[in-house]
Amino acid sequence: MSELQDTSTLVTGGTSGIGRAAAIALADLGAHVLISGRDEVRGNQVVQDIRSAGGQADFLPADLRDAASARSLVARARELVDQVDVLVNNAGIYPLGPTERTTEREFDAVFALNVKVPYFLVAELAPEMAKRGHGVIVNVTTMVAEFGATGTGLYGASKAALALLTKSWAAEFGPHGVRVNAVSPGPTRTDGTAELGDDLDQLAAAAPAGRTATAEEIADAIIFLATDRSSFVHGAILPVDGGRIAV
Ligand SMILES: NC(=O)c1ccc[n+]([C@@H]2O[C@H](COP(=O)([O-])OP(=O)(O)OC[C@H]3O[C@@H](n4cnc5c(N)ncnc54)[C@H](OP(=O)(O)O)[C@@H]3O)[C@@H](O)[C@H]2O)c1
Repeated sequence: MSELQDTSTLVTGGTSGIGRAAAIALADLGAHVLISGRDEVRGNQVVQDIRSAGGQADFLPADLRDAASARSLVARARELVDQVDVLVNNAGIYPLGPTERTTEREFDAVFALNVKVPYFLVAELAPEMAKRGHGVIVNVTTMVAEFGATGTGLYGASKAALALLTKSWAAEFGPHGVRVNAVSPGPTRTDGTAELGDDLDQLAAAAPAGRTATAEEIADAIIFLATDRSSFVHGAILPVDGGRIAV
């Protein structure tokens, strides 16, 4: 029997990059995957790719920006599946740049998608998981939540908040059978980072691995945390960054 047979998972930002790779890997293990994102063309393509490989998937379009959009996504998920067993909080934006050039609108957008939306998705789903006595939440943070660097302050601060929430939720929901953990990726080639070009390679060069990751390498770590392979892991922030924060 496949590892995630008879489970349903919700992956935010499943239309691209790390989320797409995670959605495909979860479906390969037998999960019914609900993919969320704004881009219907990319979302439907991921669903089609999963279904043609024999998996189960549905696309739930959503522009996630606040508590209401998070709650609405969960309500639509509940129309498709009896329960969400695994939540992957992956959708994120990462505008980089000097502090003085950041607008208030940009600041609010980063904290809305990277912090507020995961917060209210967990608020909707974790209590139900706790009632059932099992469930898994995997958050996607970043290595730049771990150290200071020019231009990454706003983004890193938002993911540092998500890292702390990971530990708080592990304390709150772990005793009720819900494991909450995070993957902290280093520079990864995705649609979203394509425009960074050589800058991404330069960032990656500082780590022992000396290269960028593929989305599938990050998805492998998400799978570890999403399955019983990590049954004794609670509140961990797993660096998948080529060793960058270790040295
Ligand atoms: N790539 C890296 O180097 C790297 C490193 C560390 C951490 N991370 C983190 O990993 C996660 C995924 O990164 P990625 O590089 O795979 O990103 P990506 O290729 O840019 O994909 C981002 C995903 O988020 C969704 N999204 C963006 N804004 C949204 C909104 N307002 N409402 C709903 N969905 C929205 C996008 O869907 P639509 O376009 O369909 O809306 C897309 O599926 C992010 O949280 C990022 O911070 C990435």
